Amino acid sequence: MTIHRDTPGSATDLLARAAELDGADPVAAARERFDLPDGVIYLDGNSLGAMPASVPEVVADVVRRQWGTDLIQSWNTHDWWGAPTRIGDAVATLVGAAPGQISVGDTTSVNLFKCYVAASRMRPGRRVVISDPGVFPTDQYVLEGAAALADLEIVHSRPDGVLDVLRERGDEVALVSLSHVDYRTGELWDLPGITRATHDAGALSLWDLCHSAGALPVGLDAHDVDLAVGCGYKYLNGGPGAPAFVYVATRHQAAFDQPLTGWHGHARPFAMEGSFAPASGITRARVGTPPLISMLALEEALRAYDGLEMADVRAKSLSLTGFFVDCLRELVPGADVATPMDEARRGSQIAVRHEHAYGVVQALIARGVVGDFREPDIVRLGFAPLYLSHTDALRAAEHLAEVLAHGEHLDARYATRSTVT
Ligand SMILES: Cc1ncc(COP(=O)(O)O)c(C=O)c1O
Repeated sequence: MTIHRDTPGSATDLLARAAELDGADPVAAARERFDLPDGVIYLDGNSLGAMPASVPEVVADVVRRQWGTDLIQSWNTHDWWGAPTRIGDAVATLVGAAPGQISVGDTTSVNLFKCYVAASRMRPGRRVVISDPGVFPTDQYVLEGAAALADLEIVHSRPDGVLDVLRERGDEVALVSLSHVDYRTGELWDLPGITRATHDAGALSLWDLCHSAGALPVGLDAHDVDLAVGCGYKYLNGGPGAPAFVYVATRHQAAFDQPLTGWHGHARPFAMEGSFAPASGITRARVGTPPLISMLALEEALRAYDGLEMADVRAKSLSLTGFFVDCLRELVPGADVATPMDEARRGSQIAVRHEHAYGVVQALIARGVVGDFREPDIVRLGFAPLYLSHTDALRAAEHLAEVLAHGEHLDARYATRSTVT
C-alpha cells in the first residue's frame, strides 16, 4: 500500500486530507476489532495497547469453562502446556520469524536476563556487552545484574556509535544489546546494519522490540538477528501485565544455555528428575508455570492482526505520524518534534519536547487525548495503526494547539507529578 501525503495546508485542507487518507486506509477495518471509550483519542498504545473487543469473552471462557469446569485437564484438553510456543508462533508472524523460535512468557526484564547470560556463555572469552545508555531503564538495570554475575564489562554507546566501538574492540565483544525503537524519542535504529556489523565482529545481537513489535515488520529472520525480546502489552494489545516474548534464532537454540533453569524448560518435565536437562528448541527458554489467563488473553488479542499485512500496518503508521507532524506544523508551528522525520528512522510515535511536558500531557488527558510524559521533557504520543485514524491525529493536534493557546498546561494541578505514567 502507498498512502500519498502532500504538503500541509489550512485547517480545512487538513480535514479533507485526513478524510482522504482514512478513505484509502487498508487497515481501517481493524478499528472495529477494538473497544475504546467514546470521546477518547488514545495515543498511548505504545505503553498499554487498547483492548480488542473479543478478549473479554475469551477470558470469561478461560475462567469459567477452562478453569472452572475443565479444571486441571485443561493443561491437555485446551493445550495450556503448549501455550508459550503456540502463542510464540503467532507473535513470530508479526516480527518476521519462522515458527519454533519464540516463546511467550515471563516479563521483558526476565527475558533480557536470560539472553544476557546465555549470550555471554555463547561467546566465551569475550566479556564486553555494548548497550545504549539511553535504553529503557530495565534493560540497563538487568544488564548490570547479569554483568555482575557473569563478569561482563558494559560499554555504553548510542546505537549510531556502535560501529565505532566494534571497530576498536570488536574481538572482545560478546553481545550488542539495543532497543529497536527509542522509547523516548521514537527513533528507529538500523537493525539490519548494526546486526551485520555485530556479526562481522563475531558478536551476537540482542534487540528489544517493545516499541516495534506489532507496529512494523522487524524482519528478525531476514536480518539474521540472534536474540530478541519484547512486550505483550504495547502494540500487541495483550492487556496489563501481558507476558513478554523471547526470540532465539534456530541456529543458536542448542547453545542457548539460559540461567533460569526451571522445570518448564526441562527436556522431560514430568519425569521429575533430580537434575536439569534442557529441552530442545525454543522450549528451553521457558522457566515456570505461565500466567495462563494473561497468556490466553494475549493469544486472543493477537487475532486483531488476522488478515493484515505488516507492510500495510507499517505504511499506515508512517502515514499517521507523518500526517500528525504536518498538522503540528500548521497548527502548532513552534512544536519541537524530537522524532526523526526520515521514515527509515521513525518508529510509531511522535515525541514533542516541551518545557512543561508533564502539564501538556495532563491537559491533553483532561481533553480526552491520552498520551504520556517521559522524563525530562517529552510529550509522547503513540500512533497504534490498528485503531487510530488520520482524523484522530488531526483532532489530537487541534487539542494540543488549544491547550497551548489557552495555557491549560500551566494549571496549578499539574505542578506536582504523579508517580505513574
Ligand atoms: C524498551 C522497553 N523494554 C522493557 C520494558 C518493560 O519491561 P517489563 O515488561 O519487564 O516491565 C519497557 C516498558 O515500557 C520498554 O519500553
